[in-house]
Amino acid sequence: MIDKDHTQKLLSTFSEKFDKNLVELIPSARNTSKHLHKAMSYVIEVGGKRLRPIFLTEISKLFGVKSENALRAAASVEFIHCYSLVHDDLPAMDNDDLRRGNPTCHKMYDEATAVLVGDAFQTLAFQILADKKTHNDPKKRIMLINELAKSSGCQGMVGGQMLDLEAEKKKLNLKQIYNLQRLKTGELFRFSCVSPCILAGKKQEMRIFEEFSSNLGLAFQIKDDLLDVEGDEKEIGKKTQKDSSLGKQTLISLLGKKNAKQKSKELIEKSLKILKKFGKKADNLIDLTEFIISRSK
Ligand code: IPE
Ligand code: IPE
Ligand code: MG
Ligand code: MG
Ligand code: MG
Repeated sequence: MIDKDHTQKLLSTFSEKFDKNLVELIPSARNTSKHLHKAMSYVIEVGGKRLRPIFLTEISKLFGVKSENALRAAASVEFIHCYSLVHDDLPAMDNDDLRRGNPTCHKMYDEATAVLVGDAFQTLAFQILADKKTHNDPKKRIMLINELAKSSGCQGMVGGQMLDLEAEKKKLNLKQIYNLQRLKTGELFRFSCVSPCILAGKKQEMRIFEEFSSNLGLAFQIKDDLLDVEGDEKEIGKKTQKDSSLGKQTLISLLGKKNAKQKSKELIEKSLKILKKFGKKADNLIDLTEFIISRSK
């Protein structure tokens, strides 16, 4: 049974340290726009659950990856995630005013700034991976860059975001929705779960964690969609009831709440089964995996 306090503590202890590192990784404003620097810092400083980075860090621990290496890979995926949220909130996309309990980037600043903040985060992610500090072995750095590019771009998150916008206008079947969710959300989780295997040079484990992440990512998005329907706006820090008001198809609209919940439970069970093989070392990961669907924000 999940110990919620323990998971919360795990997340808050992690974020406290990780967030400082994220801010430090934003390049200095010297000789560039102070306004851009301020807006980038704002997006990071309002927080977020940092779930992708904590999974990456905990899986890295299973394989004895150096913490400074894991930290940089974790920062790269969080920067991509932050960029995706800044753009997702723009009026051209979901048109949201609230994110992480605070005004969205374009509300705090303006739309042009939000576009550029997203662009800057995206390139920063790859700059971090390309640096020798991420790993001594250039082959591993290239593999990381390649995987993050695939997870983020037209075959990953961006492709999924496009399908998601299209889903407001046309009917999708179950298979198409699964594919949309896999790209939009699952792919950044995939990077978070396979990059530790790349850093550790564990080829065999890569397949195992690919499977782990595909269950995890889908369960995560089902929960995000459930929170949109039944979550508390104040607690989750973003507007709710958006999907149905836009007529967006989700697994909830197709399967109904009860079946969608059941499906997310089954997916988490499958992920937990994979973790059991790692024994006690995976205790934190087990808690975090259960948290994916027990969370209320
Ligand atoms: C929200 O992700 C966006 C989706 C991919 C559904 P999170 O729920 O991880 O957002 P933060 O980072 O905690 O704000
Ligand atoms: C966005 O999905 C996922 C991204 C890739 C940014 P949503 O539009 O459902 O995310 P929220 O609910 O606004 O966080
Ligand atoms: Mg969206
Ligand atoms: Mg949105
Ligand atoms: Mg959502």
